[in-house]
Amino acid sequence: MKHTDIKELFYNPEKYKEDVVTVCGWVRTWRDSKALSFIELNDGTCLKNLQLVIEKIFVDENTIKPALATGTALQVKGKFVPSERNGYELNVRDIIVLGECPQDYPLQKKHHTLEFLRTIPHLRPRTRYFEAVFAVRNELSFAIHQYFHSHGYKYMHTPIITGSDCEGAGEMFRVTTQPWNAKAADENEYYQGDFFGTKAGLTVSGQLEGEIAAMGLGKIYTFGPTFRAEHSNTTRHAAEFWQIEPEVCFCDLHDIIEIAEDFIKSIIRNVIKNCKEELDFFNERAEKGLIEKLESVVSSDFAKVKYTEAVEILKNSGKEFKFPVEWGCDLQTEHERYLTEEYYKKPIFVTDYPADIKAFYMKMNPDGKTVAATDLLVPGIGEIIGCSEREADLEKLKAAMLKRNMPIDAYTSYIDTRKFGSVPHSGFGLGLERILMYITGVQNIRDTLLYPRTVGSL
Ligand code: 4AD
Ligand code: MG
Repeated sequence: MKHTDIKELFYNPEKYKEDVVTVCGWVRTWRDSKALSFIELNDGTCLKNLQLVIEKIFVDENTIKPALATGTALQVKGKFVPSERNGYELNVRDIIVLGECPQDYPLQKKHHTLEFLRTIPHLRPRTRYFEAVFAVRNELSFAIHQYFHSHGYKYMHTPIITGSDCEGAGEMFRVTTQPWNAKAADENEYYQGDFFGTKAGLTVSGQLEGEIAAMGLGKIYTFGPTFRAEHSNTTRHAAEFWQIEPEVCFCDLHDIIEIAEDFIKSIIRNVIKNCKEELDFFNERAEKGLIEKLESVVSSDFAKVKYTEAVEILKNSGKEFKFPVEWGCDLQTEHERYLTEEYYKKPIFVTDYPADIKAFYMKMNPDGKTVAATDLLVPGIGEIIGCSEREADLEKLKAAMLKRNMPIDAYTSYIDTRKFGSVPHSGFGLGLERILMYITGVQNIRDTLLYPRTVGSL
């Protein structure tokens, strides 16, 4: 269907000025009067609508009538002309209704609440809000690939079906083809009869396979869906989310922190540059001062604090936390948010967490109590990155696994990386939806995904 994108018209108006062009799109709003009708048309290529001006002396009234309904799909031919109010508009000569939209179309109002829109996820992309969310998500994804590609990382596709629970938190979704009433004497026998002949699940992280790839390719990154059967019903947890996980050889914790900061700033800069319209929109609709915040993030240093010191700061804060703070406790969102929002007022790397609250693969520090790990916390959200130097010592790695009662036999290929030419290496995981929330000011992770998967809701 030959037509011109509305974005193309708005970005090169001089080129199309006074030309007769064909556009396609959906009616966002409309107005009718005796001699004229007006339609705001959107085709998804940019946030801005194209105003159609229909003079009834030029277009047959019978053609106009069915076009005047919110949600209707149109193909329109007209002259692209400058206008005082809209910059440019289209003087319509011909209209074809591609798809009518009856009165029970739920998006009749200009603004709907996000809660209401969550009940009709299949129609959300037709709203300005979600058009902006998915435009930034797209730009962000592209910027992420661009960053790693231009820095010499190889993009790896790690398996989605796997036998290893990387984070060891027991949050894997099971993958099975066994009939629901399969009979078995014990767990072993049950899984032997299953598709893979062993217990399988959806990956919670591509890291372990990423490490294996990095151990030959030097530096790699993954960017794919990860799954967690977490029962945390919060605004920041989804059961299916996208994770970006670089893995870098010959790199210690200090180096990977530098990479993470440079990477975050670089992708934010890209969005600032390429999503002006969307950021203006979110600045208005989601978070006042958003653009100022992003400008300040890319132009100042992130803070760094050791876990032990962070615990002292929290204890001396005079705040009543729901979860009391003691050395050795995992930091809860309320603690993370106090540190980043009230104390440092900027993104912070909290480093050197107690080994007991972190995953098995993290490098033990010389103190024998803490690990070379860091979380990047940001105001408004809390953790967006989980990061660590990996335990490169074969014996120490095995000891950490045994301490956690992990089935070492299931991890032999991973352990081999420490046996055959082990090297210092580090990596991190960034949650795409979390950074998207931070960049847009969108407050609920359910509003960053086309079809959010959360506990109790498919
Ligand atoms: O801190 P996590 O669990 O770290 C890992 O998975 C490591 N294997 C990463 C690595 O070193 N390669 O998760 C990493 C990030 C979190 O900081 C958060 O941004 C995001 O993934 N994340 C979630 N995002 C949405 N919903 C959830 N349920 C999430 N769980 C983690
Ligand atoms: Mg984490």
